[in-house]
Amino acid sequence: MKDGASAIEIRDLYKSFGTNEVLRGIDFHVDPGEVVCVIGPSGSGKSTLLRCVNLLELPSAGTVRVAGAEITDPEVDLDAVRRRIGMVFQSFNLFPHLTALGNVTIAQRKVLKRARDEAERIGRANLERVGLADKIDAYPGKLSGGQQQRVAIARALAMGPEVMLFDEPTSALDPELVGDVLGVMRGLAEEGMTMLVVTHEMSFAREVADRVVFMDGGVVVEEGPAARVVSDPRHERTRSFLSRVLDPAAAPAHGPAGDVPG
Ligand SMILES: Nc1ncnc2c1ncn2[C@@H]1O[C@H](COP(=O)(O)OP(=O)(O)OP(=O)(O)O)[C@@H](O)[C@H]1O
Ligand SMILES: [Mg+2]
Repeated sequence: MKDGASAIEIRDLYKSFGTNEVLRGIDFHVDPGEVVCVIGPSGSGKSTLLRCVNLLELPSAGTVRVAGAEITDPEVDLDAVRRRIGMVFQSFNLFPHLTALGNVTIAQRKVLKRARDEAERIGRANLERVGLADKIDAYPGKLSGGQQQRVAIARALAMGPEVMLFDEPTSALDPELVGDVLGVMRGLAEEGMTMLVVTHEMSFAREVADRVVFMDGGVVVEEGPAARVVSDPRHERTRSFLSRVLDPAAAPAHGPAGDVPG
């Protein structure tokens, strides 16, 4: 990483789908080792923003830099970029016919061309890192949702990413399984991993994030230290969003408890 460069720097980012302008000039950065949580209502463009950061979506305008390198440069090597950025989705997308270890080694072998021994050594180490030392040979069908999500995190970590993006990693989980996944993410944060996390878990945001970014309508409405934004929001839109998330009784009655309808 270049000296002084942000881990992620997003400048004047726009993204439209047809006439639907979803991102309308997003600016913010994530410093190396920082954890930034993105919060905001359904449809505000959070997933689109994350997908633009690893080029699953091509931005309509603006730049994204990762560790000082502009990934929005049309000449960029897409595979090389994606290797530096780990992504974890709400749905785990594991291969059902592969064991946990198989899932964690396949991209290492196919994309990074690592030898089987090395890929398995790194795969085991990362499954241990997420607390699954005893599930190395288990198939996804025999794992809980929380365990499957931890395999998905280990799979991303095994590629040796410089930054990790998480898009509502606990939203599909039964409430009793959420804590294990958040615990793994908290451990990664403590190890100094740079993380950009879309989540509705406000206690995680408050306790683990360095900063919180509140998005609404494709713009950043407010950002700042996590405790400040969550406990003392400056904007009415942030306040009204937080009151709905923090008091689920006030929110419409679909979606898991403590979550915002997505
Ligand atoms: N591939 C796509 N093609 C067309 N429209 C899209 C596409 N992806 C997202 N959108 C639109 O972009 C807008 C923002 O969607 P996005 O998924 O980024 O929101 P979000 O903040 O992640 O919402 P949620 O909290 O529900 O996950 C929505 O209006 C959505 O319909
Ligand atoms: Mg989303």
